[in-house]
Amino acid sequence: MFFKSVLAGATMLASAVFGATAASALTVGFSQIGSESGWRAAETTVTKQEAERRGIDLKFADAQQKQENQIKALRSFIAQGVDAILLAPVVETGWESVLEEAKDAEIPVILLDRTVSASDDLYLTAVTSDLVHEGRVAGQWLVENVGDRACNIVELQGTTGSSPAIARKKGFEEAIAGHDNLKIIRSQTGDFTRTKGKEVMESFLKAENGGANICALYAHNDDMALGAIQAIKEAGLKPGEDILVVSIDAVPDIFKALDAGEANATVELTPNMAGPAFDALEAYLNDGVVPPKWIQTESKLYTQADDPMKVYEEKKNLGY
Ligand code: AHR
Repeated sequence: MFFKSVLAGATMLASAVFGATAASALTVGFSQIGSESGWRAAETTVTKQEAERRGIDLKFADAQQKQENQIKALRSFIAQGVDAILLAPVVETGWESVLEEAKDAEIPVILLDRTVSASDDLYLTAVTSDLVHEGRVAGQWLVENVGDRACNIVELQGTTGSSPAIARKKGFEEAIAGHDNLKIIRSQTGDFTRTKGKEVMESFLKAENGGANICALYAHNDDMALGAIQAIKEAGLKPGEDILVVSIDAVPDIFKALDAGEANATVELTPNMAGPAFDALEAYLNDGVVPPKWIQTESKLYTQADDPMKVYEEKKNLGY
């Protein structure tokens, strides 16, 4: 009797264990763009942590900013027969063939943080923020804070051809449209990096009377804004005062800049794209639940009034 019940208990335990293993022992390939920004580093950290927490075997491939490397990684994941693929696509176009190959192999692909121009039946879902909305929020902040005075804006764009660069530009332009005192006088890519943000800002300052003609900087991410802040300081001007600074991501360092009065506003992009992506994937593979084509993450505006050092403390160890 005792033996029987121990056996029954062991069987239940085994089936619970094996059941859990069967449900969660997924192998997922992740093609990451690279490590151009603090935000990207945090997304990588969070994805690895989420995978580990769920018992997912994550195969990670860093594309070093090159689409051809991402396509190679996807083909290698397909050849290995992974259960699913996460793709953070560096640019919007050029994905049709490889996504068709994944579809033919019945491997679901989930887009992370950026979108593609390919037909949406080639991927399971896309976990992204509303990238146009982020640009609108940044533009709206300027509209509300500049008032009626004439304001020449310089823009640091993200990677050319990437969905956030395209959408954040669009949203910002929509927000300032009809406000004739706000004018974008220069706009160039800084490739989402601190180094290029600084370099391009230096050239803007030089071309615009040492910065005297510039009233505001809009950067498509915080890293470029942080590089530009350095350039503005080196030009003898006060970022945040002489030149207003608004950007996107909400990385820890921008909160230090907000606290120092050197940045004015940032729109938060959560680095936790993997959580919702794995939730959707597990529900799909285990229970056949088909997710919506777009799983939208939240965007939140932070300014100097939002206790920046408190937010910095909360974020500083999150993998940025
Ligand atoms: O796709 C999201 C963007 O890519 C982030 O805003 C930027 O920092 C990153 O590199």
